[in-house]
Amino acid sequence: MLRDIARKVLGNSLARRIWKRVEIIGDIAVLRKPLDLDLEVEAYRNLAIELMNRLPYVKSVWLAVTPVEGSYRTREFVHLAGEPRSETVYKEHGCLFKLDITKVYVSPALNYEHARIAKLVRPGEEVFNMFAGVGLFSIIIAKYSKPKRVVSVDINPDAFSYMVENVRLNGVSGVVVPVLGDAREVARSCTNCFDRILMPLPELAYEYFEDSVLALKDVGVIHVYEFITAKTKNEAIQEAWNKYLRRCKSIGVKAEVIGSRVVRSVGPRYYQVVLDLQLEKIS
Ligand SMILES: C[S@@+](CC[C@H](N)C(=O)[O-])C[C@H]1O[C@@H](n2cnc3c(N)ncnc32)[C@H](O)[C@@H]1O
Repeated sequence: MLRDIARKVLGNSLARRIWKRVEIIGDIAVLRKPLDLDLEVEAYRNLAIELMNRLPYVKSVWLAVTPVEGSYRTREFVHLAGEPRSETVYKEHGCLFKLDITKVYVSPALNYEHARIAKLVRPGEEVFNMFAGVGLFSIIIAKYSKPKRVVSVDINPDAFSYMVENVRLNGVSGVVVPVLGDAREVARSCTNCFDRILMPLPELAYEYFEDSVLALKDVGVIHVYEFITAKTKNEAIQEAWNKYLRRCKSIGVKAEVIGSRVVRSVGPRYYQVVLDLQLEKIS
């Protein structure tokens, strides 16, 4: 349907470049502006109006004019149509996430990954989500996998406030523990605490890896997310394996990759990869 709407408003060739760049987040539609396409905002506005006509549940449409950037991983937006409101409630896997698209990171493309990780968590586990955003991984884990607790850190005060609200909205208080701060500091304050650690921020995963190993129990799992340039998806996964197995060896930790996948393509020959690393600290 999105493709049809884009074709009707923009014609075939432009539509091909744009329709996949529409995200629906709650009752807000976000159009992601291709950086290499110099199209007037008015053209996007016409598309936005048609989107609202065809999808009555969409109440507001925004154009993301930058990629995600900065340490909070947020984007700049221009309002296109509908209510001039950027706060919404996004639903995923039966959980509710209140958020403001202009203040915090959110990506419906991580939908599958959120559920995949939740299914790996065993009852009673102590989990540490180092880059929790508004709490998607943490709350979905708490809702479905009976962890003992999920310590969930974010450095963005808005993400933290929404996480606190989302914990309450989803009835997981006491299990998900929101923390405002730098994940490295939290990791350093808790040696040998966690069975499982999530590092869903490719920009910092490698830099903070040693601190996260410190916070892991003697045996445990760390999920690292990385951006990798490679010719193929398989090469990207292999490259990530090599990078982390080398790192584990250098810090004296026994490592086995027990899972891996390309989470998404982020550009030509540029992939986001996740590795599930089973680690054993050798004393
Ligand atoms: C890619 S987003 C996380 C997305 C989230 N896990 C999800 O599934 O929606 C990365 C998050 O890390 C946070 N962040 C950046 N630097 C940080 C740091 N040093 N410590 C803790 N959080 C940090 C950002 O504010 C952002 O919310």
